[in-house]
Amino acid sequence: MDLAKIERVYTSYAKIYDRVFGKVFHEGRQSIIQNLNAQPQEKILEVGVGTGLALPMYPRHCQIVGIDFSEGMLDQAKQRAVEHQMGHVQLHRMDAGEMEFKDDSFDTVVAAYVVTAVPDYRKVVSEMIRVCRPGGRIIMLNHFANDNKVIAAVERVLSPLTKHLGWRTDLALQTVLDGTPLHVARKQNVNPLRLWALVECVNKKNKNVNGKTHINGVKNGNGTAAYAHINGTRLSEQASGQALG
Ligand SMILES: C[S@@+](CC[C@H](N)C(=O)[O-])C[C@H]1O[C@@H](n2cnc3c(N)ncnc32)[C@H](O)[C@@H]1O
Repeated sequence: MDLAKIERVYTSYAKIYDRVFGKVFHEGRQSIIQNLNAQPQEKILEVGVGTGLALPMYPRHCQIVGIDFSEGMLDQAKQRAVEHQMGHVQLHRMDAGEMEFKDDSFDTVVAAYVVTAVPDYRKVVSEMIRVCRPGGRIIMLNHFANDNKVIAAVERVLSPLTKHLGWRTDLALQTVLDGTPLHVARKQNVNPLRLWALVECVNKKNKNVNGKTHINGVKNGNGTAAYAHINGTRLSEQASGQALG
């Protein structure tokens, strides 16, 4: 799916999203926030915030920024922010694969049901790493491909169909993590049948020390370079290939 399709599909869901995907996936969202133990003034980014179902659950002593590409979803989130008088929440329309934030802007980055719903998960994960400070947390809540070979085969068959609905079912957690500086600190299965996972990672990227070059990046599953950043600037695909080897 490209961004135009994301906009089209999710904006068409916006008005019914909460009724269809609200309660059934609530446990996962609630588990993220119950375990956050967020510090006063902690800066939290929610990527693919959707209609903002999780927003009222964040502690009000934090600074929350939510982004989404779908105008329709974001309108619902804005309405919710007004209804709940959430002065600590800012919402922006933005592509998670090309964020407008500076490096290391956030202490915690949350992506709930997003990594498998974006056009290019590598770009999005790479951006989440870039905008999260070294040592910060990146929390992904998602259905990842099952370890059981039979279920994984069914998921591979279903994936081309669910892609039209706005998400894929065949992405393995290890594929997402390969080549990244993310270290899994906690993994918990959630939601009906425990088929979704809440994965809390520590961002172990290098510190951006003044004037010193550091290279972060994401490699494709086959080991070729996807994207590299030098001091936070994303390189071209060719330069990424050279940087990441
Ligand atoms: C399945 S919904 C999840 C919404 C919300 N996080 C929740 O808990 O229900 C996926 C969201 O990701 C957004 N999205 C997909 N690709 C995106 C991108 N490249 N940039 C920003 N948002 C994106 C969609 O518009 C949609 O709102």
